[in-house]
Amino acid sequence: MRRAVCPGSFDPVTNGHLDIIGRASRLFDEVIVGVLVNQSKSGLFTVDERIAMLREVTASYDNVRVASFQGLLVDFCREQQASVLVKGLRAVSDFDYELQMAQMNIGLAGVETLFMPTNPLYSFLSSSLVKDVAKWGGDVSPHVPDLVREQLRARLTVERPG
Ligand code: PNS
Repeated sequence: MRRAVCPGSFDPVTNGHLDIIGRASRLFDEVIVGVLVNQSKSGLFTVDERIAMLREVTASYDNVRVASFQGLLVDFCREQQASVLVKGLRAVSDFDYELQMAQMNIGLAGVETLFMPTNPLYSFLSSSLVKDVAKWGGDVSPHVPDLVREQLRARLTVERPG
C-alpha cells in the first residue's frame, strides 16, 4: 500500500489545496490529509471545522482520509504508515523553506517529500489571502469550494467602509 500525507493548516481549504490532494490521490493508493493542530496560533476556523470542510470537499475521492496531528509531522507519518509527503509549490519563493523542511524530515525519519507544481490557476492563492478578500466582501468563489465560501461568509462578514 503506497500512502502519502498532504499536510497543512487548511484554514480554510482552498482550490489550490484540493488540486494537490486530487492529483496525489491519483498517484497513491491512499492519501491522508493531515491538519496541523497548532496550539500557539488560533486560526479563523477550529481544527474540527477545518476537518469537517475537508471531509466534505474530498468526499468524492474514495482513497482520501482526513486526520489531525500535533507535534512532528514525521511522527504522524509513522502513525499513518506513510513514508511520503506531498507538498504543492506555488512559486520559487516557496522552495527555500520547503526544501529545509524536506531535508529535516528525511533526516529525522527517512520520510520523503515530493513537490508538485501547483496548477498555475492557483499559483497566487493562499488561505490568508482568501480570508482577507472574504473579510472585505470580495468574491472568493473562483478560489474555494462553495461550502467554504459559505462558511467564510458566515464567519467573516463585516461592515464595509463608506
Ligand atoms: O499549511 P501550512 O501552515 O504551510 O503547513 C505547514 C506544516 C503543517 C506542513 C508545517 O508547519 C509542519 O510540518 N508542522 C509540523 C511540525 C513539524 O514537523 N515541524 C518540523 C518540520 S521540518
